Amino acid sequence: MKPDESKIHTRPIKYSIKASNNKGVSVFYPPELDKNQAIPSMALLKEAWEITSNPPPETIAPYFYTDGTKNCAFIEIEEGTSLYGTGEVAGPLLRNGKEITLWNSGNLVFKKDRGRRLQQSHPWVLAVRRDGSAFGVIADTTWRLKIDLRNGIRFISDGPAFPVIVIQGKSPQEIMNGLAELTGTISMPPIWALGFHQCRWSYYPDSRVREIADEFRKRKIPCDVVWLDIDYMDEHRVFTFSPKHFPDPKATNRYLHDRGFKSVWIIDPGVKIKKGYSVYDFGSKNDVWVKSADGKEYKGMVWPGMCVFPDFTRPETRKWWAELYKDFLAQGIDGVWIDMNEPYIFNGPDQSMPLDNIHRGGGGLPRGSHAQYHNIYGMLMARATREGITKFCPDKRPFVLTRSNFLGGHRYAATWTGDNEPSWKHLRMSIPMALNLGLSGQPFNGADIGGFFGDTNPELFAHWMAVGAFYPFARAHTFKMAKDKEPWAFGKKVEAVSRIALERRYRLLPYIYTLFREAAINGMPVVRPVFFADPKDADLRAEEEAFLLGGDLVVVPKWAKHPKLPKGIWHSISLVGEDSANDKYQPNLLIRGGSIVPLGRIIQNTTEKSLNPLTLLVCLDELGKAKGVLYEDAGDGYGYQHGQYLLTTYSAEKQGNKVIVKIADEEGSMKRPERTTNIEIVTGRRAVRANGAETDGITVEI
Ligand code: GLC
Repeated sequence: MKPDESKIHTRPIKYSIKASNNKGVSVFYPPELDKNQAIPSMALLKEAWEITSNPPPETIAPYFYTDGTKNCAFIEIEEGTSLYGTGEVAGPLLRNGKEITLWNSGNLVFKKDRGRRLQQSHPWVLAVRRDGSAFGVIADTTWRLKIDLRNGIRFISDGPAFPVIVIQGKSPQEIMNGLAELTGTISMPPIWALGFHQCRWSYYPDSRVREIADEFRKRKIPCDVVWLDIDYMDEHRVFTFSPKHFPDPKATNRYLHDRGFKSVWIIDPGVKIKKGYSVYDFGSKNDVWVKSADGKEYKGMVWPGMCVFPDFTRPETRKWWAELYKDFLAQGIDGVWIDMNEPYIFNGPDQSMPLDNIHRGGGGLPRGSHAQYHNIYGMLMARATREGITKFCPDKRPFVLTRSNFLGGHRYAATWTGDNEPSWKHLRMSIPMALNLGLSGQPFNGADIGGFFGDTNPELFAHWMAVGAFYPFARAHTFKMAKDKEPWAFGKKVEAVSRIALERRYRLLPYIYTLFREAAINGMPVVRPVFFADPKDADLRAEEEAFLLGGDLVVVPKWAKHPKLPKGIWHSISLVGEDSANDKYQPNLLIRGGSIVPLGRIIQNTTEKSLNPLTLLVCLDELGKAKGVLYEDAGDGYGYQHGQYLLTTYSAEKQGNKVIVKIADEEGSMKRPERTTNIEIVTGRRAVRANGAETDGITVEI
């Protein structure tokens, strides 16, 4: 149903139509919005009016209208169109018929508003038509926005009129590429961030952190990162360390580093009001805090007690915040976790700030109310954090994890889905959540493995580890009062399940790393809905139990009831000796006919060399051919931006009873490592193996 015609006061107009690289993009600009008055876009790399676009002849056009009080935009959809995206949402993959509010809210176990608003805002909908062609729509506004998908696509804003950008293309993949062109991509993360992360609220004191690290190594369970939650701080004051529990954080980090671990430490935005605390004193002297409507510092309650909050809309504040990372990172800290940045305030209205709080802006951002800036508070904090890390560790790739964010915020930080519960429901929901975040431009995401808020039973934990090992961001975490949730905390059986799950992930790291490179180049999600394998197949559109890892593997959790799988050749594979199809916990992993998937060795962490031998899993298509890509670089630093990488395309072809595997193409100036390459031909019945030097081509007899 279209909006009531009598209420429409604005007809669609195309603002800018010129030929450009932005193929398939149209920008619509409601006439009552004066572009000179509009605030700079937070989501887009270029302002909407600077995007020269080349819309296809049959351009989808929004109707702009007001419903009496609110500015709205409506986009009609054809019958049979499937809707996705809308960012971080609780509920099913398919968004048709759903209604959500974009208003960043810390939402414990997704109970508030029945989970219809969570920690992040992505004013973005991906629409896939019956024939597999697709379009995507951005409502470029930071204000509170309702996305109503009960009948077409409707955006209802609490703020002024806003531009709408439409991307059209032949497939959902093209739309993801278009979204990346407009909002940017992630940067290549350090490879350690793709390993397994162990967290809890909180590992302390220092001796407990060491114990956790030792247990992983002793038990030979792969792990790259140990996390430090708020109890490392002195009275929960950010940028401090408890003299009692962490008298020497440098030594803690050294201990971890010596054992092949990295560390990530948490920082919240709330700064404790306490004279003599340098962060508070300096911030107050330099007037960096968000103000109440009366012009005084706004005060609110968080973990440390009463706090003030940096006004991240101000460039001066962001710069100051970035500087705070100098001493912090000098402790040997590898990554930063930012949290409670919706901002979540215990005693604030609706657990956040009053809407009439004042943000002073600067650097192009006008002074504005909290109502205007609420949804990008977390994103701006992530930006300041990333800038700090980049400045003080210039040779390393930053790793930031944020709870709150906004469309385009993937440029600054990875994310997790917030405080879930240890239930089957939330384990199941973690898949569509990860998929829709990926379809909203945020490929680097995952849920708390094991469930955050409460105790987990061994069976659930085992299943969660088995599937969580395939999240793009794989971190186990738990609540302060919950019992231990490390892989060994549930006895030998669950420990063994966890070890196999993580060994599978670590063997797949070369493939996963290659997928992250793809995401960094063209915005393709790391985990994808199965319909990406065949967007024309209507049967796949709602599948949310099985999912694609990249384009070549399907992950089918053991609890999937009747998973709909793409047609064609898909064979079960074994990575570490497990029986993928029949294992009770480990998801069945299927490889696509026509693909070559690179595998490394089982390693305990990413400081170990993984790729000697390199294994290529080859699965031929109907024509006896296959192709695959491996991306390699130093795993950290920026050499790759100057050609220091190796991108190898392998090809395989069946000739008689032989399969010849060759390097079909290579790119980059990194020297090809000398190594043995194992070839495994996956036939569905038995795996056939051979090895040799990849450069000479390898012939396998089958
Ligand atoms: C928030 C976070 C959670 C963290 C806790 C303490 O609830 O979402 O992950 O453990 O705060 O910092």
